[in-house]
Amino acid sequence: MTIKKICGIGAGYVGGPTCSVIALKCPHIKVTVVDKSKEKIAQWNSNKLPIYEPHLNEVVEKCRGKNLFFSTDIESAIQEADLIFISVNTPTKTFGNGKGRAADLKYVENTARMIAEVATKDKIVVEKSTVPVRAAESIMHILRANHKPGVSFQILSNPEFLAEGTAIENLIDPDRVLIGGEDSPEGQIAIEKLCKIYEHWIPRDKILTTNTWSSELSKLAANAFLAQRISSINSLSAVCEATGADVSEVARAVGLDSRIGSKFLQASVGFGGSCFQKDLLNLVYICECLNLPEVAAYWQQVINMNEHQKSRFSSKIIESLFNTVSDKHISILGFAFKKNTGDTRESPAIHVAKTLLDEGAILHIYDPKVEEAQVIQDLASLDILNVKNRISIYPDAYSATKNTHAVVICTEWDEFNELDYKRIYTEMIKPAYIFDGRKILNHEELQKIGFIVQTIGKRLNRIAVSRTWGSPNHV
Ligand SMILES: NC(=O)c1ccc[n+]([C@@H]2O[C@H](COP(=O)([O-])OP(=O)(O)OC[C@H]3O[C@@H](n4cnc5c(N)ncnc54)[C@H](O)[C@@H]3O)[C@@H](O)[C@H]2O)c1
Repeated sequence: MTIKKICGIGAGYVGGPTCSVIALKCPHIKVTVVDKSKEKIAQWNSNKLPIYEPHLNEVVEKCRGKNLFFSTDIESAIQEADLIFISVNTPTKTFGNGKGRAADLKYVENTARMIAEVATKDKIVVEKSTVPVRAAESIMHILRANHKPGVSFQILSNPEFLAEGTAIENLIDPDRVLIGGEDSPEGQIAIEKLCKIYEHWIPRDKILTTNTWSSELSKLAANAFLAQRISSINSLSAVCEATGADVSEVARAVGLDSRIGSKFLQASVGFGGSCFQKDLLNLVYICECLNLPEVAAYWQQVINMNEHQKSRFSSKIIESLFNTVSDKHISILGFAFKKNTGDTRESPAIHVAKTLLDEGAILHIYDPKVEEAQVIQDLASLDILNVKNRISIYPDAYSATKNTHAVVICTEWDEFNELDYKRIYTEMIKPAYIFDGRKILNHEELQKIGFIVQTIGKRLNRIAVSRTWGSPNHV
């Protein structure tokens, strides 16, 4: 059996882009992406895709209707596929055993049950969602306990390492592709078939094959290492602020060590996104279940440090604004968890906004790619008094910052570097503050304009401004 038809279950941030790139690189394979959400599939079939990702539009436009299809007919797509990618969500459990820590595998389980029920011929089932170690075993139990006579399944682990904002780039030129499978002749044949798909555009030496459990754990480990680097540099940012060291200088000096490397050493308001916290919590839970409390505590601290960083930044804003933000107008620039995505899951901006709203502030919010409804949904779901009357969403940074006391940069969008800050300063209430939670702006220039600037991991020399808020002088 060579792979001629692929079904991708889950048309989200992973399933949509991953299947689109496979369709682009393997024009002879029919790829059908299915989802239970009718609305999402309708968007994938429209000119406005449900997610923003640079270059995704071009890829989809090139393949859609030729060898790439988006559908809600899950059963037919499973039925005809030779290989199925499971890319459904695996959020943190919100109730029951492992609440707040373990991964909720109900969507994965439902998918496995549906495959077993529908399949009438052999299939390779590929776990692309991030799952706890040994989840493939559970999926296999479900498939083998419920399959139709004569139908057999091989299950592979092929975790996805793409980063939102650079997903297409990562999929076209990945650092590596990881495939784990059973150490049986059938398992090895299935691994080889999946390798062959990737080999259409990825050099073989970048395709790693391992046992299933190593593959599953490697994904959790990779996210834990990345998050740990951010928490490490963020912990040092607090030391810098207390001592006069500059965290950017420290990060540069440390990162030039070839054993350490320079990536993921940018101090900030904290990490966000749907994966880091969820996967760390999952790792902590697994360690606890394995009776490894010291290992669990080690990784838990990475999450604790991230929470601390978000709170520290929010407190700094309040303290700087004379210890009260009640009825003050504050603009939040950037609501996505990082630039080049519209995804707000676990965004630090939500934490900052909630703290400021709890303290009575009125927020003016602008993000280039996050829909107004999404911002309102994120904030309305929190327990905040009268929230809808205290937030306004603006179409650009200038209208969002007008008549506000402070600007808070929560996302590192490139366009925030190109704004006319003289114009913004003129239209703000004085003294005008900027809190740069991403360390992207030219702080000295902003001070010269007259802003009072606060950032992370660096104490800025105060600049005295004249009483008319004109020509500032360094002190
Ligand atoms: N987002 C990322 O950057 C990223 C990167 C690597 C890995 N991952 C992992 O990939 C997985 C998916 O993440 P995502 O961000 O794409 O999630 P997502 O929420 O964007 O998409 C998941 C989709 O699955 C659909 N779904 C759930 N159950 C279904 C079912 N039974 N039948 C059909 N559709 C179903 C949902 O409707 C949703 O559209 C997660 O395990 C995540 O940890 C995510």
